[in-house]
Amino acid sequence: MNAIADKDFLRHWDELSQFGAVPGTHGVDRQAGTAADGEQRKWFESLLTEHGFRVERDAIGNQYGLLELVPGAPYVLTGSHLDSQPTAGRFDGAYGVLASAHACLRAAAELGESGEAKYNLAVVNWFNEEGSRFKPSMMGSSVFTGKLPLETALNTADRSGVTVYEALGKLHELGDFTMPEVASYAEIHVQQGRSMEADGVTIGLVNATWGAHKLEVRVTGDQAHSGAAEMADRRDALLGAARLITAARDLVDDFAPGDLHTACGEINVYPNSPVVVASEVTLLIDLRSPHTEVLDAAFASLEKTIAEVSERDRLEIEIIGEHRWEQNPYPENGIALAREAAAELGLTHDRVMTVAGHDSTNMKDVAPTVMLFVPSVSGISHNLREYTSDKDMLAGLAHLAGVVTKLAKDGLDRE
Ligand code: GLV
Ligand code: MN
Ligand code: MN
Repeated sequence: MNAIADKDFLRHWDELSQFGAVPGTHGVDRQAGTAADGEQRKWFESLLTEHGFRVERDAIGNQYGLLELVPGAPYVLTGSHLDSQPTAGRFDGAYGVLASAHACLRAAAELGESGEAKYNLAVVNWFNEEGSRFKPSMMGSSVFTGKLPLETALNTADRSGVTVYEALGKLHELGDFTMPEVASYAEIHVQQGRSMEADGVTIGLVNATWGAHKLEVRVTGDQAHSGAAEMADRRDALLGAARLITAARDLVDDFAPGDLHTACGEINVYPNSPVVVASEVTLLIDLRSPHTEVLDAAFASLEKTIAEVSERDRLEIEIIGEHRWEQNPYPENGIALAREAAAELGLTHDRVMTVAGHDSTNMKDVAPTVMLFVPSVSGISHNLREYTSDKDMLAGLAHLAGVVTKLAKDGLDRE
């Protein structure tokens, strides 16, 4: 098999970046299960097929490209996600999927001829990593790793009531494939932070993930005339939600600088009408920390605030959904393997934590996992202006190919 060159990667990258492109920008809008997602999946399937992969999809729409080098052997799986947030950058996830496909081809070219491969190779495009249209995030890898029941995921509806099952069915992206045994997993991603750029590091060896606790909260009050109703009579759901939003921000100041990040990224107001006191609001609060005890304390404090706001403003406030992952490490033997691959290529590298969640956050709990970063200019992410240079993308691809080759040849023990 012929290895494909850097220029082929860049050409494929330009093609991929056209799907869901936002006019006048370098960014994209291709949320999970939308038409743009369907189009990029079909394009990816053709690309894989043309290059000798067998393409499959499973019951939650994870898309796989398999290259069998050693019949019957387990697989080195590598990938990320093609879906995006609304009006987002083109790198988040998509870079990792395309780099993984190319890395598999490079590893196959190197190992195929020498007969040194111990494992097969596969690329994966995980369904709905972003969780913007269908919550929670990391849906495909959560189902794959048994953390989320398939039925729950398929029955999850977007804001207009369309379920995952319906959206994927319409795109013909539901399958019945079961991925064979995974010997190890590798993922590369843009950093979405600015420390690597500041430190002049090309390859990030991800050694741990921050913990996250995401809450979906429903505030229920009573609809009223926003002018006529007596102030004392009001049960204003939007007022309660506003107090929770500012409380989440103020929480940050109760901890050491850098120990807690918080935000409310989504709010839905009913009836959301000019002369009406809102009767119901749902909001999403996101708490992140590199320390489990900080995350626990922040959550406990927010629960207390919920009780206080509920009493003060005479509202019912309920946590109706939660998604949490813990602060925990990536395996040290994977970091050592990745460090060796970077040193062989003469690439600067350093250990770095991931603040954002990734599908590898799930995968590392079931398979030996390597997580890698390349720099993000100014750390801008979930933004149309997200940017990583071609030079860094190509360095990351060379590195990932080295890592995948080592994984396929030598394997990685479970720590
Ligand atoms: C990813 O799902 C994240 O929330 O960081
Ligand atoms: Mn991502
Ligand atoms: Mn993202």
